[in-house]
Amino acid sequence: MFRSHTCGELRGEHVGQEVTLCGWVDSSRDHGGAVFIDLRDRYGKTQVVAGPESGADVVEQVGRLRGEDVVKFVGTVAFRPEGTRNPKLATGAIEVRVIRVELLNKCKTPPFTPGQADLPGEDLRLKHRYLDLRRESMQRTLLLRSRIIKSMRDYFEEHGFIDVETPILGRSTPEGARDYLVPSRIHHGKMYALPQSPQLYKQILMVAGYDRYVQVARCFRDEDLRADRQPEFTQLDMEMSFVDADDVIGMIDGLVVKLAKEILELEVKLPLPRMTYDEAMRRFGHDAPDLRFGMELIDCTDLAAEAEFRVFRAAAEAGQVVRGIRAPGGAARYSRKGIDELTEFVQQDFGAKGLAWFRVEEDGKLWSPISKNFADSLLARFGQRLEAQPGDLLLLVADTWEVSCKALAALRKRLGAELKLYDPRQMHFSWVVEFPMFDFDHEEQRWVAMHHPFTAPRRQDLAMLGTDPGKCRAQAYDLVINGSEAGGGTVRIHDQQIQQQVFGLLGIDQEAARERFGFLLDALQLGAPPHGGIALGIDRMVMLFGGLDNIRDCIAFPKTQRATDMMTGAPGTVDRRQLDELGIKTVGP
Ligand code: AMO
Ligand code: AMP
Repeated sequence: MFRSHTCGELRGEHVGQEVTLCGWVDSSRDHGGAVFIDLRDRYGKTQVVAGPESGADVVEQVGRLRGEDVVKFVGTVAFRPEGTRNPKLATGAIEVRVIRVELLNKCKTPPFTPGQADLPGEDLRLKHRYLDLRRESMQRTLLLRSRIIKSMRDYFEEHGFIDVETPILGRSTPEGARDYLVPSRIHHGKMYALPQSPQLYKQILMVAGYDRYVQVARCFRDEDLRADRQPEFTQLDMEMSFVDADDVIGMIDGLVVKLAKEILELEVKLPLPRMTYDEAMRRFGHDAPDLRFGMELIDCTDLAAEAEFRVFRAAAEAGQVVRGIRAPGGAARYSRKGIDELTEFVQQDFGAKGLAWFRVEEDGKLWSPISKNFADSLLARFGQRLEAQPGDLLLLVADTWEVSCKALAALRKRLGAELKLYDPRQMHFSWVVEFPMFDFDHEEQRWVAMHHPFTAPRRQDLAMLGTDPGKCRAQAYDLVINGSEAGGGTVRIHDQQIQQQVFGLLGIDQEAARERFGFLLDALQLGAPPHGGIALGIDRMVMLFGGLDNIRDCIAFPKTQRATDMMTGAPGTVDRRQLDELGIKTVGP
């Protein structure tokens, strides 16, 4: 080994020892005759001093070192002089007085330094990811990620799961996103699809009798990227046989307790709260509600029907809804201009036609430019319904159920943060269960699977598959952390006939089903046990456990919003010859 200790290791107890440290020059200060270097590696920083006792040669060599040079120092550990100790630094009591120095590699002037106070733009950080990854916060996150994955693996091993790898080159599995395709050299015109998840393989493993499967699995989805989505991401994927939804939920409950304890030193009480999808939409307008604060959506449609205010009455008469939220203390926080901004926010991004608002005055009365369109007694009933307190701001949307959900959920999320209704460090874990089996795609006029086509309906809803698919609820469950979908899973269909029926509803006819999923349909008839499972988004869990707001900060080598890798330049062009071999003609950009 080049070094005897790391840069985060030395303490008072090492004083007097001769040590060898290797690392990067974080900063250097020349105090005329003595040069101070902060030497950094991933374990920490240590102050290294070359002074008169090091000899003039050494002082001169050390004086020439610059940021990010890679250096080896041999020296003696000494207490820092009284008054110069740094209690904020783990190694702050000591320094290393240099005996010898060896420059292991000179660094060119870097485009930015990991220690610089102002973070450079993300493009530059991603281009020189190796410099960015030297930053302490990035190292902390990658370490956190590694510990989370280790805890997960330990947990599933303790519970008898076996880790099975599934293919990356496979066939298209319908998780609802676009596939990444890989052309075949041997079979021109044919493509492998990168897995959107190992869904079908893990079901096949259940048929094969491996009743507890787990994998840290790479998934690929070509979809529009957001702050919590990457084209290539990692799941903790698991599947179990002879279970129902409660069994899978219970298994993950145990994992959540372990992770919270080991990673965050937090005691989580079981069982985690559960809410049906219908309740979540009614109370929060969202299928992954942030339960760290209240501010629930309150239905006022019946009151709206009595109002002279045209917008409200018309909505109520047209069978739409009028729902609202109460922003505690919002009257002072949002000026007219602030409210205009909120109105634009729900209009532009969430399709609302407008935003009606009332300020709650000192005497409890509601005031708004539209209040003249309401009888006083009706206003008072709106106030009661929304539990208005002086100083509150009441916000209401009149629209279809769907738009009211979208607009008010977004508003609730924004106001919760802006009004600081919760402690951002708090963690809240819960389950949303019994999702609908299907969503109706109005554009294409057809049913689409809410989760995926292998999801089993609730037993009591089976009959509705034929009569009223929209009402049919699934044996489905999502793990929600702080208003984010951290994981999702279902009990699967293990009966070939029900599977065919669901394919039929989704417009996948027998022939297409045979062509795409024939292997699954066959397997379902060759001894398929009842089974179910779940996948947790590891990148998202790291984001949530680390209190970060961008998924790119949780991945060593992420892609940009435009799905490019700034460091390697992927996706890149390839030789004509490679394309010829694959039988591919391109049409250019
Ligand atoms: P689902 O599609 O819900 O289920 O994915 C499971 C979890 O994976 C995470 N996730 C993502 N994370 C980052 N970037 C993405 N683009 C992305 N997409 C999904 C989310 C999500 O909750 N095969 C099923 C699981 C099952 O039924 O067992 C599946 O993949 O945290
Ligand atoms: P208008 O009558 O369209 O000028 O709107 C009067 C007020 O009602 C404005 O503050 C609008 O933002 C609000 N408003 C309009 N449409 C809606 C709606 N669908 N839901 C809630 N408020 C609305």
